[in-house]
Amino acid sequence: DKAGHKHFMAKEIAEQPSVLGDANAHYLTETGINFPDELPDFKEINQLTLVACGTAFYACLTAKYWFERLARIPVEVDIASEFRYREPPVAPKTAALFVSQSGETADTLAALRYCEGKADKILSVVNVPESSIARESDCALPILAGTEIGVASTKAFLCQLNVLLLLAIRAAEDRGTRTPEQLANIRNEMRSLPGLINQALEAAPAMKKTAKRLSAATDVLFLGRGLMYPMAMEGALKLKEISYIHAEGYASGELKHGPIALVDKKTPVVVLAPKDSLFDKTISNMQEVIARSGKVVLVTDSQGASMIGSEAADLIVMPDVPEILSPLLYAIPAQLLAYYTAVAKGTDVDQPRNLAKSVTVE
Ligand code: M6R
Repeated sequence: DKAGHKHFMAKEIAEQPSVLGDANAHYLTETGINFPDELPDFKEINQLTLVACGTAFYACLTAKYWFERLARIPVEVDIASEFRYREPPVAPKTAALFVSQSGETADTLAALRYCEGKADKILSVVNVPESSIARESDCALPILAGTEIGVASTKAFLCQLNVLLLLAIRAAEDRGTRTPEQLANIRNEMRSLPGLINQALEAAPAMKKTAKRLSAATDVLFLGRGLMYPMAMEGALKLKEISYIHAEGYASGELKHGPIALVDKKTPVVVLAPKDSLFDKTISNMQEVIARSGKVVLVTDSQGASMIGSEAADLIVMPDVPEILSPLLYAIPAQLLAYYTAVAKGTDVDQPRNLAKSVTVE
């Protein structure tokens, strides 16, 4: 049932505020986080290894910033199909964490099995609690996204990010790397996310216009720094999956090391740049794109828009959000851009060619 929406993907995008609100009604308590007792004490963990495929891999890349920044824990992130065949050494006091919406992805499951008997703890972040990955982990954390039907993951990605951030907060608490007040603040700010996401969804009309232009492009670049770098890659993956437009996500700072050679007046460049600690750096990369006639779609907040918005060909304004939470908000424009571009092209949004919802063969 699409609940009045044209596609399951549209429905799943629209229900994110309520799904996230419900997930956090479960996870956030008055004083902390409602996690199962089987979770390790992160004081006893020296290394965190995150493994996943596709969109779940980008959730892991985002989580690396959170775990490093909040909990000062060394984090390695890998694609499951590479991890499993590399036979990497697993250091003592390693927790291995597998992220999978379906919980059945063949490569992710094989990577988990590789870690059995090697890692101190096997954790998973899944949407399907009865899945193989959930059953074979020491502790499975449900993302509580509800059934996701669209092949392009949207609400599951958001809910993966949510649980991974909660886990990073717990790790920071265990390791004493942030004060209880600081962590309580972040948890409180997380309560405002459903409202902020609702506001972000109001960018849909502006997004439709931009998407019309994108639908004529053959290549699109996505740029971001810090927490926006994985989001740039996620935005590019989403766009290529459902609109079949070639898209790549890059770290803004890598632009001049190669990809800027691709920029000409036919290349839309989506720049994800909230007014955060890295804003000025990203904007100077954006200006390099403009100087080469690239057509910039700038996604920023009102402060960023008033400083620099007039330089961009297209401007999408997001509500203000604390930096640490920004991925949970900027996921929305990435999804909307892909969705409306696919709609403008008339492709099969929910069942894109060559793709399956659950990849149970390698
Ligand atoms: O079920 P999983 O989370 O393990 O699936 C991983 C990927 O196959 C999945 O995220 C894929 O990249 C999506 N189609 C992305 O939209």
